[in-house]
Amino acid sequence: LFSLLAVMMVFLSGCGEDYISALKPSGQVGKEQFNLLLLATGIMTLVIVVVSVIYLLAFLKFRRSKVGENVIPKQVEGSHTLEVIWTVIPIILLLILSVPVVTATYKFADVAAMDEVDEAGNKTALTVNVTAKLYWWEFEYPNQGIVTAQELVVPTGQKVYFNLKAADVKHSFWIPAIGGKMDTNVENLNKFYLVFDKESADLKDGVFYGKCAELCGPSHALMDFKVKTVSPEAFDAWVANMKATEGQTASKDSTDLGEATFANSCLACHAVSGVGGTGGVGPNLTTFGDRNRVAGFLEHNEENLKAWIENPGEFKPGNLMMNPEGTAPVYGDLTDEEIQALATYIMGLSVEK
Ligand code: CUA
Repeated sequence: LFSLLAVMMVFLSGCGEDYISALKPSGQVGKEQFNLLLLATGIMTLVIVVVSVIYLLAFLKFRRSKVGENVIPKQVEGSHTLEVIWTVIPIILLLILSVPVVTATYKFADVAAMDEVDEAGNKTALTVNVTAKLYWWEFEYPNQGIVTAQELVVPTGQKVYFNLKAADVKHSFWIPAIGGKMDTNVENLNKFYLVFDKESADLKDGVFYGKCAELCGPSHALMDFKVKTVSPEAFDAWVANMKATEGQTASKDSTDLGEATFANSCLACHAVSGVGGTGGVGPNLTTFGDRNRVAGFLEHNEENLKAWIENPGEFKPGNLMMNPEGTAPVYGDLTDEEIQALATYIMGLSVEK
């Protein structure tokens, strides 16, 4: 029992940080889901305690009798009363558990507001189309006309509606501290909403973290994304900044070599607003300089970006920047000068600087 508890301690302590812990929920959905967890744990604890006590009492009551080993005790066969009791009690417990769970499940799946329009015919709900890919996330804001990758920016204090789908294999969308998780499928769109009530700037990392929660390949565990929650005013400003990048050369640190290398080696798969590329194969890099991770999990600095460009397969096995054999990047070997220029150029892609 002690070693079991010790193991559980390790698991629980690993979930302690409030930017990624389902045990420190934030927002309406996360809090209600957490309360359901508490309810389920409470009922299960009650059952374990009652059954264990009865079990121990039975041991004590029916241990070897003092009157001798050859005496046959009173024989009992069947008891309607007992059978009714141990049938009815579990039914009551399951009802207590299932009514709130089913109610919550339907409530969080109510996305009718996604289709509401204002007088001008524009959709009013904040909607994000999420596409999960090996091993990164694309976030499209259809009503704002902007796209990001790896970075979900959302306002606090309102319902944010999600359309979830996958481009390749099944993934699962989960922001542990906020709510979820929900599978992303290739065929069927899943929809639900989340509510963000805390500005992520107050957190240790300045962001919440989202994860892929469905085993999807060798780099499944690295398929994280950043969730930045801001005030509604700051969100509007961010949207305006994103729109303002349209039609402009986006890198603040542009050099001829950086621009040329980016055009030759990156634009076939990555899009950058104002620079070009159709994207879709790789993440949109418009706001790369504003991220706080390289490739979703490495510290955000130029050295890590250079190492990543040189050999992305070393960091995220199976990612599409490597050729199918996994032996070299699809853009071939670049010179040190090209990699340096490219890293500087990509770090300069920013709407916040
Ligand atoms: Cu995607 Cu696990």
